[in-house]
Amino acid sequence: MTQKILVLPGDGIGPEITAQASRILAACQARGLDVEVDEGLVGGSAYDVHGEPLPAETLEKAKAARAILLGAVGGPQWDKLEDLAKRPEKGLLGLRKNLGLFGNLRPAITYPQLADASSLKPELVAGLDIMIVRELTGGIYFGQPRGIEVRNGERVGFNTYVYSESEIERIGRVAFEMAQKRGKKLCSVDKANVLEVTILWREVMERLAPEYPDVELSHMYVDNAAMQLVRAPKQFDVMVTGNMFGDILSDAAAMLTGSIGMLPSASLNESGQGMYEPCHGSAPDIAGKGIANPLATILSVAMMLRYSLDEPALAQRIEDAVGKVLDDGLRTADIASKGTRTVSTAEMGDAVLAAFEAL
Ligand code: IPM
Ligand code: MG
Repeated sequence: MTQKILVLPGDGIGPEITAQASRILAACQARGLDVEVDEGLVGGSAYDVHGEPLPAETLEKAKAARAILLGAVGGPQWDKLEDLAKRPEKGLLGLRKNLGLFGNLRPAITYPQLADASSLKPELVAGLDIMIVRELTGGIYFGQPRGIEVRNGERVGFNTYVYSESEIERIGRVAFEMAQKRGKKLCSVDKANVLEVTILWREVMERLAPEYPDVELSHMYVDNAAMQLVRAPKQFDVMVTGNMFGDILSDAAAMLTGSIGMLPSASLNESGQGMYEPCHGSAPDIAGKGIANPLATILSVAMMLRYSLDEPALAQRIEDAVGKVLDDGLRTADIASKGTRTVSTAEMGDAVLAAFEAL
């Protein structure tokens, strides 16, 4: 059966990087991948046309798609929008929430060829392979009540950090199952020394543990986890945490790999429908210059093939092609180092495509 894929380029460098990823997707189609690809608007570019970051038409197409490939959203021209609901980021958050994409997988893998590009010493990061499992549709990002209001003559801003047991349990299961398929170590990150919501988080993780006897569960406070990630990152296999801690820790983990331009992600719901996007943002400072790194988006296509389309061989082929291009010494500016050849976004796309075809 033909599956639907929706490509949402978004803002900033989004269109440049999704263009390269779409070429790889087309190459997969040429090899028999049975998908129908459509495009839509999200974020600031949707706001400019429709007055909202997530137009009804886009949401409808997204619901009907088996998988969504998203570039990035946001930019300074929309930061002054006072109504938070109109900000580009709401387009992304609205997609996550409406599609129930609670399970966010963010793999931080340091390609050996890029160990020098990391801001950490190569021996600390060479061979690194961490999977961050971030809860994506709950926590403080979505908790009610929230707002800014006047109390006692001054403005007060507030948000609510809330998780139900069932929300914790379902992300916990994703993480335990992921650990079973990998190194069998799961570190749950919380702030249970201060926040009740994460005391409950820890309790639920403990309750699940006996069902996964082959997985070694540990707990870490988020401040320590941030420190350990830059001190000795190879101690981690799978990490599981809530929405906001996961947002922060995954950016930190990204730098271990050399560049945030290397990190793909998958956001999945219960039925395996997923949204795939690079972990990095829209990088307005380099948008339109043709120098952005398309590899995180290309690797997001690989994750799409693996997690939503059940095409592990094609996924592997893309990942191998990326490895080959790095072996050949090609780098976009963000991952360039001594002795490598700096190429543009499109040249990187050309090279991955050529390697994909040649494999
Ligand atoms: C991410 C991003 C988003 C988030 C923003 C753009 C809303 O930082 O995917 O990590 O905070 O989740
Ligand atoms: Mg983030």
